[in-house]
Amino acid sequence: MSEENLRIVILAAGIGSRMKSSKPKVLHELAGRPLISWLIEAAEQLNPEKIIVVTAPQMDDVREVIAPHSAVIQHKAQGTGDAVKAALPELEGFTGDVLVLLGDTPLMAHDTMQDLIDARHLDNAGIAVLGVELDDPHGYGRLIPDKKGKLARIVEEKDCNEKEAAFNVVNTGAFCVDGTKLADWLAQLDNKNAQGEYYFTDLPEIAAREGVKTEICITYSEDEVAGINSRAQLAALENVVQHALRQKAMDEGATLLDQDSTYFSYDTQLGRDVVVEPHVFFGPKVRVGDNVRIKAFSHLEDCQIGEGADIGPYARLRPGADIGEGARIGNFVEVKKTKVGKGSKINHLSYAGDGEIGEGVNIGAGTIFCNYDGFDKHQTKIGDRAFIGSNTTIVAPATIGENALIAAGSVVTKDAPRDALYVTRIKPMIKDGWVSRFQDKKKQQKEG
Ligand code: UD1
Ligand code: CA
Repeated sequence: MSEENLRIVILAAGIGSRMKSSKPKVLHELAGRPLISWLIEAAEQLNPEKIIVVTAPQMDDVREVIAPHSAVIQHKAQGTGDAVKAALPELEGFTGDVLVLLGDTPLMAHDTMQDLIDARHLDNAGIAVLGVELDDPHGYGRLIPDKKGKLARIVEEKDCNEKEAAFNVVNTGAFCVDGTKLADWLAQLDNKNAQGEYYFTDLPEIAAREGVKTEICITYSEDEVAGINSRAQLAALENVVQHALRQKAMDEGATLLDQDSTYFSYDTQLGRDVVVEPHVFFGPKVRVGDNVRIKAFSHLEDCQIGEGADIGPYARLRPGADIGEGARIGNFVEVKKTKVGKGSKINHLSYAGDGEIGEGVNIGAGTIFCNYDGFDKHQTKIGDRAFIGSNTTIVAPATIGENALIAAGSVVTKDAPRDALYVTRIKPMIKDGWVSRFQDKKKQQKEG
């Protein structure tokens, strides 16, 4: 059931110039997920009738990420007020609450959004603004109170006089506005300010002219309302998110030997009694079963690991690695799009790509699945209990039968039947005393 009296507008059309990036700011990531997706997830929890994202014309990539929600286009970034105007076609005839959020404020929680909506209905205010008190208000618009302590106006930092700049209750950028009045108030915005922009933050003053009040809703969670304008602010919020994800992993029964060097993605799933050694990176879409140990310096993304498996140190699990129960992936082993069966071992210095490895298989050091011929990727299949000797090169497509034994140093270019010994090896040539004869001959030539 959607909340018929609520529509949410998220502003994301700004160029984000302070990021110094060719990528839209809202697509920068926290814990492997775009900023805008964090905010949308929280917004969805309010069950709004619509979520409308304001984007710039060239931002097809943002529109892809926010789908299936509606996107509108602000043709020129002329300020947050102008951005909300771009959403008006999606608000036509709508008389409920319009919640306006900034796409670069990713961590706002849905209950804070709800508090803001509730604040607008207190005392019949036309607008509610979410404020926060900061020790250092630098960079934020200031909420300037009137004599009664109510909101008089919002002044952007660049437009502040010294006295205004000293106020430290600031605008988080989130507003809830009476949908029946929004269009009318937006039409009254001007751009007579330091940045020559249409500021959404001028709305309270415009409403006040009609005798309509703005309620201030105060939040105490600074992290939730922190805006990201620079890489340094992105890094600071990444720390906040990582801290929370580590806490969650530990709450759910994982041991992190050095939590500060464990990097999680927003969706990392760890089972119980998983032990993570120092310096492990979890990219998006990693699922780890119970009792797995992930040893130091391993890098994992889009993969799953079965119960009791042992990974690393220095393992690299790439997308589609599916490691079976009790399997063992050792140091300097890279696995991609390969299923490794129960109890199988790839312990040292190997590459397994585009493969299917049965149960109880042993893959010796330095084994390479040659999966790519420069044009296509090919499959390698290895049956249960097969033994692949060290330094084997498997030229895919190739099938190695159950219980087959590939001798060390072989190049596999034909299928190996089950139970067969497969050897490709030049017969050794041994010449007794050859080295000293060779050396004597060379010496004589030099002296002669
Ligand atoms: C804004 C607020 C400021 C508040 C701060 C909180 C205004 C004028 N200022 O400042 O009071 O303290 O956020 O973080 O509202 N955007 C558009 N179109 C535009 C301009 C911006 O869609 O033309 C979007 C941006 O993509 C961004 C968001 O609006 O997601 C905020 O814009 P930004 O330029 O970062 O505003 P701040 O200077 O941070
Ligand atoms: Ca901002």
